[in-house]
Amino acid sequence: MDKQTHTLLLVGSGAREHAIAKAITRSSRPHKLVTFGSSLNPGIAELSAEYDSGSINDPQTVCNFARKYGVTLAIIGPEAPLERGVSDALWNGGIPVVGPKRDLAMLETSKQFTRNLMADYQIPGCPQFKHFDSLEGVSDFLAELGEYYVVKADGLMGGKGVKVAGDHLHSHEEAIQYCQQLIEAGSSYVIEEKCIGEEFSMFCFCDGSTLKHMPPVQDHKRAYVGDEGPNTGGMGSYSDTGHSLPFIQESDILESQQINGEVVEALRKKTGEGYKGILYGGYMATSSGVRVIEFNARFGDPEVMNLLTLLDTDIIDIFEAIGNECLDTLDVNFLNKASVCKYTVPVGYPDAPAKGFPIDTSTVEKPDQLFLGAVDQREDGLIATGSRTAAVIGLADTLMEAEQEAETLVNQVIGNLFHRPDIGTAALIQKRIDHMGELLG
Ligand code: AMP
Ligand code: GLY
Repeated sequence: MDKQTHTLLLVGSGAREHAIAKAITRSSRPHKLVTFGSSLNPGIAELSAEYDSGSINDPQTVCNFARKYGVTLAIIGPEAPLERGVSDALWNGGIPVVGPKRDLAMLETSKQFTRNLMADYQIPGCPQFKHFDSLEGVSDFLAELGEYYVVKADGLMGGKGVKVAGDHLHSHEEAIQYCQQLIEAGSSYVIEEKCIGEEFSMFCFCDGSTLKHMPPVQDHKRAYVGDEGPNTGGMGSYSDTGHSLPFIQESDILESQQINGEVVEALRKKTGEGYKGILYGGYMATSSGVRVIEFNARFGDPEVMNLLTLLDTDIIDIFEAIGNECLDTLDVNFLNKASVCKYTVPVGYPDAPAKGFPIDTSTVEKPDQLFLGAVDQREDGLIATGSRTAAVIGLADTLMEAEQEAETLVNQVIGNLFHRPDIGTAALIQKRIDHMGELLG
């Protein structure tokens, strides 16, 4: 049977969506890509037959755009449109979507929903937790957890609602003050056990019942060299050959994949619907197995740059199989290579980033390995808009070579920018290995 010629809708216009657009462009299947973004990303526009920007979080607006171009399959990049029900609206309009419906995206949008789901369905890897909407019982629970606690605001906070003991909170009094602040802002919150270990991300494609896992990746949240400084959206990420990471065990990989599977199963039981899209499990390898830090309902940024560069299966086949619930019939493969992604970001990012300055990417030797993020194409050139500006990927047979390639490329992006030269280096990775070694005794 001839394969369908799809008109694909891509929702979103950051570096994550640039990576998705590049993967779609690599497809050997005839197709047309139409993009609806929140800004004009010239990297994506160049790959799209049609490109418009507007309110990507408004279901009706996105549906109108999809109808105008006769879209047959949609992929939603960021979480906000998922939270607003854009996926539900497209499905209602007869368009299959890669990206879960609103009730299932609660896995990302509500910390309470996710922790309760894990507890109700007895899914392993859940730290001790309690949900609060007042201060009642907070002191007792903090006393129980001692110095190991984390306070998480419920709802989408762009990574800013989480405060960790030792990093952001230095006493129970400070913790209670933060809880009070959340209550005053009208937010409920979860307090949970602080886990000690090394974080990694385990992603899969999911059609509601079948999961196809991707290689594990490690992101770097802190802004500065040596994991110092404020938290960011992610400064860079790496993956290793053998589809593992140097500091984790085979059992960590298997446990995290098992937990992803149990979560999808639990979601179906709870909501009666299949989770169709990308599932992002944020895990921590600890001395007693893996713990779930969070789930997200979409690709990670920067991890997507690693994963879709490594992807060795036609992404349109995968997206179509997700829509048709037949992912079990498809082999999904990734190259056995190491990859290092580095972001270059405005000076002052994340707290007081420079904005509106020109950047020049024309000297980047391997434009296929460049992804544009928070930029805007103006008449007089390409402008950085303040968030993470551009990412590059190095791909090689060893982490060392991949790191060197990423470092070379990231330095070729010119502007009032900085990056973390230590991401993917042997010294930093050794720190992770030593840390795990200490914990495992
Ligand atoms: P989240 O938004 O839930 O991913 O939290 C942001 C960051 O806070 C994570 O990437 C972790 O570094 C840290 N974090 C969150 N929950 C925990 C936990 N239970 N134990 C230790 N660190 C945590
Ligand atoms: N890599 C962090 C995120 O996408 O949320």
